[in-house]
Amino acid sequence: MIAIVMLITGLLVSGCSGSSSELVHPGYDITIGELESMVAPLPGEIRETIIDNPVCFLDRLSNVLEVPAELFLIADKDHNLGADYVPEDLVNLGDYPLYRNRDGMMLRAVALPDTLAMAEAARQEGIKLVFSSAYRSYGYQETVYLRNVSELGREQADRESARPGASQHQLGTAVDFGSITDSFAATPAGRWLVENAWKYGYSLSYPDGYEQVTGYRHEIWHYRYISRPAAYLERVYFHSLQHYLLLFLDSNRASLEEAYRGGDRNHGSDGQGEPPESVPGAAERTS
Ligand code: DAL
Ligand code: ZN
Repeated sequence: MIAIVMLITGLLVSGCSGSSSELVHPGYDITIGELESMVAPLPGEIRETIIDNPVCFLDRLSNVLEVPAELFLIADKDHNLGADYVPEDLVNLGDYPLYRNRDGMMLRAVALPDTLAMAEAARQEGIKLVFSSAYRSYGYQETVYLRNVSELGREQADRESARPGASQHQLGTAVDFGSITDSFAATPAGRWLVENAWKYGYSLSYPDGYEQVTGYRHEIWHYRYISRPAAYLERVYFHSLQHYLLLFLDSNRASLEEAYRGGDRNHGSDGQGEPPESVPGAAERTS
């Protein structure tokens, strides 16, 4: 009886239709047991959210499977990109009307449309998003890390600055906004990003309270572009924890692609407007 009530409640909440067949979802050759195995390494609350809503989860996941896998590459203390990793589609943010605190910042072109849309949406709400750091080469990250070691000592530097090869900035999809300090949290831009960044495919990489998981202390200014469908999936099913979404995709994407048989997909769409004026100026602060 309780199970029936929970099932009906789940369907009402999710708005997705269930499946009574052995397969979890008509679009995937996958059983609930196989899905349970895939989510087994994840924290309990994330596992429960997915397993309580497997049809909706797989619906949304199908949109993520369309996104190039490179957007989900892991760069952290356990996954080093190596010195040779350089994204092929870097563009200069100076060519676009964005607020920037220095010249020469680069971002992957794949992230550009949503980035411009985000900046414009913020501008329309009176919020000035200032881009303070974006792509960093392996060599530049080495310089940044060593500078942090000399200023903070190695132990503290390792809490807030990635060693070369381990920085998401080398992916060309990570952006530091504003002051790159804790005080950014209380600014209109900091608050706006917390509420809205996911709508444009951006995800907070180092949330408060997860240093043991991510390897880095809370960075309220550091966002990574992972695409709109992935940011939605992360927010709803992975409790806004990018780390676990990326691990899940890294471990299971190939099997899920093989199991996927096609079907309806839910594409979100937000309009893109004209981005604001650029503001070149102050020197970069990096962590
Ligand atoms: N501050 C982050 C961890 C980086 O250096 O990439
Ligand atoms: Zn950063």
